[in-house]
Amino acid sequence: MKERIGIILLAVGLVNCHTNQAQPPAQTIQSVASFPFGAALSPVRLTNDAAYRQTVEREYSSITSENHLKMHHVHPEADRYDWQPGDVLVNFAAQTGKRMHGHALLWHEAVPDWVKNFSGDSLAWETLVRDHITTVVQHYKGRVAAWDVVNEAFLDDGTLRKSIWSEHLGPDYIARCFQYARQADPSVNLFYNDYGQEYSPRKLQAMLTMVADFRRRGIPINGLGLQMHTHINHPDEQIEKAIRQTAATGLLVHISELDVRVNPKGEANFTPSADHWQRQKAKFAAIVRAYRTQVPKNQQHGITTWNVGDADSWIPKFCKCTDYPLPFDKAYQKKPAYEGVLDGLR
Ligand code: G3I
Repeated sequence: MKERIGIILLAVGLVNCHTNQAQPPAQTIQSVASFPFGAALSPVRLTNDAAYRQTVEREYSSITSENHLKMHHVHPEADRYDWQPGDVLVNFAAQTGKRMHGHALLWHEAVPDWVKNFSGDSLAWETLVRDHITTVVQHYKGRVAAWDVVNEAFLDDGTLRKSIWSEHLGPDYIARCFQYARQADPSVNLFYNDYGQEYSPRKLQAMLTMVADFRRRGIPINGLGLQMHTHINHPDEQIEKAIRQTAATGLLVHISELDVRVNPKGEANFTPSADHWQRQKAKFAAIVRAYRTQVPKNQQHGITTWNVGDADSWIPKFCKCTDYPLPFDKAYQKKPAYEGVLDGLR
């Protein structure tokens, strides 16, 4: 009898063992990626939406603040900073062991009313910007690994954008912003971030010229962000070329706001077909593969998608159309695009 029980227990053990072997843990983006991979987050969704939070915790090793470290959020009045929403993200990153990327210290679209209404001479404007950058960078010193210091300062034709910043600070303001950020935190990585390098060689050239100029003058800069808001029809070769040319600077390279629209013309009542999903999958795979193969290992700051799933994407609000630009659907289920990301990482 004892022998029979022993044989049965052994058999059960073997079956269990076999079952365990047959079910390896599911792969995730962060388990497959050899570099940081992340998403831009909202602290509100992170707090209120369990599926969103679980997806981020499971899949990503890096996070970027989508909106709440922009000037109009974090510094809403001249003498008041609002750290709470940004702290939710920074604390989440610390608690879950994820890298925190701060976005963005200076951007012409994130200007609070008190700045729009500010009047003062060039020294007063300079002080305003220096104090803002110094205060925010020092507040998060040691907890934010990298900052987008200046965002979208160039136009597609490669000229400097006319903005509240260039108007009041003069054409060399970008360099001084980097110096202020460096003085506030000697070890944080400092990025210039912009969009459109894959379709606008002139804008890419403007960035490269700026980097060469910074080098000559000893202005600190560690990395370049290629936002990469793109779509299923954009040629792979152009994307790969932009990544390669950016990597040739020797700086860190961040694909910083990746999404791939399936409805780039913004057609009304658009319903994607199986072919759209496959083309989206192929585009994600091509971009991730180009990054992995064209950017030297020590320059791989990583890839960040702009938002997590199609439910929280900024695109539909922006284009006032239907679109589905991310690897997760509206219920945070994996789409073919998710497999495309994994394909590109392998
Ligand atoms: O939260 C309010 C809500 O209370 C209100 O009812 C609603 C009415 O429109 O607005 C909501 O705020 C919006 C916010 O997104 C959250 O959805 C703002 O109006 C809207 O302007 C804001 O847009 C953000 C945009 O930057 C401007 O700051 C997007 O979320 C954000 O994804 C986008 O991110 C930028 C990057 O910073 C730079 N690169 C381009 C990228 C996309 O535009």
